[in-house]
Order: sequence, then structure tokens, then C-alpha cells
Amino acid sequence: MKFFIDTANLEQINEAQALGVLDGVTTNPSLMAKEGITGEKNILQHYVDICNAVTGDVSAEVIATDYDGIIKEGEALAKLHAQIVVKVPMIKDGIKAIRYFSDKGIKTNCTLVFSAGQALLAAKAGATYVSPFIGRLDDISSDGLNLIDEIRLIYDNYNFNTQILAASVRHTMHVLDCAKIGADVMTGPLSAIVGLLKHPLTDSGLAKFLEDHKKGN
Ligand code: E4P
Repeated sequence: MKFFIDTANLEQINEAQALGVLDGVTTNPSLMAKEGITGEKNILQHYVDICNAVTGDVSAEVIATDYDGIIKEGEALAKLHAQIVVKVPMIKDGIKAIRYFSDKGIKTNCTLVFSAGQALLAAKAGATYVSPFIGRLDDISSDGLNLIDEIRLIYDNYNFNTQILAASVRHTMHVLDCAKIGADVMTGPLSAIVGLLKHPLTDSGLAKFLEDHKKGN
């Protein structure tokens, strides 16, 4: 399972990269705004800075919602850096654009996916990644993990190459549950990754080992 971090915060990206378990980064316009990155020039430079900080794929989202606009923006984003994946919303023109990018060998991440039908369409269009937002489904009392399960079944039935990128992951249990179901990738906050480290028996066991070592010396 690949681990992506879902942030535009370079400090957190560097911390995750330093852990040695990071496979990529996802961003979105809200995450960029949260870091105070505004204006086209600054946004594009920030994507390049993120790419230079990590070794894997970096999703950069288009703002346009019409076919021509998505193509123009997506091609410009893809030219920025070899690690850029063009993030395209699950809308009709988005699907057409994903087909175009896929035929040109440009990687895509189909975002804002909330149903198995949408995920099927994204795979048919040749998306590299499909992003079902599990946390946002959980927020409205819908079962986000069940959606991952459904998509896994459908993709396996037909050997689709599209990778299931479980998005809107909010905590460590989401990461574990997605791993059990067989999501190819999860993207979440640094806290969800670091949370995997924690167990009280590890802490108490280590404290005892160190104490006993001191006694023996
Ligand atoms: C996915 O790529 C999105 O950036 C993200 O996972 C959305 O998460 P949120 O629902 O926590 O905003």
C-alpha cells in the first residue's frame, strides 16, 4: 500500500519524507489556500517545491471545469515536473479530459469520487488514480469504507489498472481499514501516518528494557 500525505505544508511533507515511508503527495485548492499560497505563479512554484521535496507522485488540481480549460491547465501542470499528476474533478468534461491525458501518457487523479459508478467511469477513461473521499462520506453517515470495498471488487473483476487512492482519510483506523480492503494508496494527514507508530505496550516495554539495561551496567 502506498502512503501519500494530503497537505500543501512543506514542513509536514519533509517530516513524512524523512520517515522513509512516503510515496507521494496530494493537494487541492483548499489545502493550498490553507498554506496561504495564492496567485498562479506562487501556486505553480509551490508544486515544483513539493516535487523537489519528495520522490513520488504529486497531485496538482486543475481549477477549470470546461474541457478546453482543463486540457490547457493540465498540460501546463504536467510540464512543471515529471512527478506531477493532473488532478481532475469527476464531471463530464473531466472524464473527457482524463481520456485525453491518458492517451497522451499524462498521469491523472480523478477526484471528488463518491460512488462506485463514478469510479467505474474514471477507470474506463484511463485514470491513473481514482480518489474516493471516505471521510466526507462518513461525515454524512454514509459508509466510506464500503465504497472502497465496492470499487476494489469492480476493478478486480475487470483487471482495471486504475489505482484506488483512498482519500479524505482522517485517522489511523481509516489507514488500517483501507489496507485490509486492499486500497492501492491512501492519502491522509501526517497524524494518520504517525498514529500507526503508537502502542502503549511498546512504550512501557521500551521503558522497562532501558531501565533493566541501566541496572545491569
Ligand atoms: C484528496 O485528494 C483530497 O485532497 C482530500 O483527501 C480531501 O480530504 P478532506 O475531506 O479531509 O478535505
